[in-house]
Amino acid sequence: MILEARSREYCEARIRAGVLEQGTVDLLRDAGVGDRMQREGLVHHGISLQFDGERHRVALSDLTGGRTIVIYGQTEVVKDLIAARLASGLPLLFETPVESVDPERGFIRHAGGELECDVIAGCDGFHGACRASLPAGALREFSREYPYGWLGILAAVAPSIDEVVYSHTERGFALLSLRSPTLSRYYIQCAPDEDLDAWPDERVWEELQSRTAVEGWTLAEGPVLEKGVTGMRSYVCEPLRHGRLFLAGDAAHIVPPTGAKGLNLAIRDVRLLGEALVRWYESGDESLLDAYSDACLRRVWRCEHFSWWMTTMLHLPPHADPFDLQLQRSQLRYVTTSEAQARALAENYVGLEHV
Ligand code: PHB
Repeated sequence: MILEARSREYCEARIRAGVLEQGTVDLLRDAGVGDRMQREGLVHHGISLQFDGERHRVALSDLTGGRTIVIYGQTEVVKDLIAARLASGLPLLFETPVESVDPERGFIRHAGGELECDVIAGCDGFHGACRASLPAGALREFSREYPYGWLGILAAVAPSIDEVVYSHTERGFALLSLRSPTLSRYYIQCAPDEDLDAWPDERVWEELQSRTAVEGWTLAEGPVLEKGVTGMRSYVCEPLRHGRLFLAGDAAHIVPPTGAKGLNLAIRDVRLLGEALVRWYESGDESLLDAYSDACLRRVWRCEHFSWWMTTMLHLPPHADPFDLQLQRSQLRYVTTSEAQARALAENYVGLEHV
């Protein structure tokens, strides 16, 4: 039984991240929900880091024995999952918010009634009811707030880049990404509570132009279809299991978007939980369910570190002094000139296999 607080239209319209690790792609394909992703997803073999007005390519595939990433919007993944679920005839209830959860008894009270469950997968996001239902003291929490956000646009224009570009400048960070041959996804660093009214399209383009300029390249502009501000935080709670409740994805951990890890981590949690449930239902063996929290958290912390590292290397702190900027430049130069450093970035970016 899947309970979704929002409407189908809301879930299918919400623009989120768009970088899928190889492991995520493999899982979606193996689960039989990868057909459209395989047709429409864009396979990328590298990313670029830009600083001091120059772009430096990090050859992800060459550095990781041929692994790649696929650009395919999270929104599209959600559409494919909803379609597969509805086609299966199994229950998926939209606009059915969960009111309370009893982790020990496996009891859920929701807008349309009550449920008694063998297991509850708490996949209801950072603000969801599942984690909130746990008694004080049940969780150990770790968090960090960042003093900046991202202003993101989706624009109806052919992307001016063919691989994702992360740009460090003295005016702040910018990111050039894409969704399809005709849709560009671009971001600029802003304040976490930035007022969108202060950002008419012309100002967004002007700022993007100035933060991404390199000689001999131009950024093509087009109609802005969507504009929004995303806050940035890091958060982990431990453990992920409480009685019959298993937290997964943003309900248990948040990363800032700079490493594109959020969706990939969530999918990895669910893969482990799925395998553990199959084992338990088939043979009564609970060992994988018992191991779930620790197994997830190992990878979660690796991605927490990577996302924090990418974020602090690329963003301009609010009161940056020249010392901060020089440290960032030095780090960026090192990452783009030392093969060992570039490989460390690459293997984290495409997704470590055995963490
Ligand atoms: C995106 O395409 O939305 C995107 C790409 C890379 C990131 C974050 C978001 O690190």
